[in-house]
Amino acid sequence: MASASYRVVLYLPDGSKKELSVGADEHIWDVAHAQGIDLPSICHQGRCLTCAGRLLNTGEFDSSDSIRYFPEDRAAGFILLCTARPRSDLDIRTHQQWAMREHRRALGLPAPYSGVSDAG
Ligand code: FES
Repeated sequence: MASASYRVVLYLPDGSKKELSVGADEHIWDVAHAQGIDLPSICHQGRCLTCAGRLLNTGEFDSSDSIRYFPEDRAAGFILLCTARPRSDLDIRTHQQWAMREHRRALGLPAPYSGVSDAG
């Protein structure tokens, strides 16, 4: 695959922004970590939702490495940074694990670590 890379801007809870260059075959979380940005995570498999972010633009990404990622997640703008690879420039608000769990619960979808059954 061509070595395309994209500009990914992370909007952190302290109000700061961090800009990354993320290759098309790289997971956003890994690149952030290599730059010293300490984002939440547990599973690194696209399952637990701990690393969740939310898009602030209409960017594209590949979530096929995520064990469990639903079309409803995409429609709501949630992205699992541990397993997402960019397909366009992206603006992402980080630390959205609780918002994503709430979103999943509202739809009756699996929401690990939210205090309810993690069926499936
Ligand atoms: S760290 Fe578990 S879904 Fe990303």
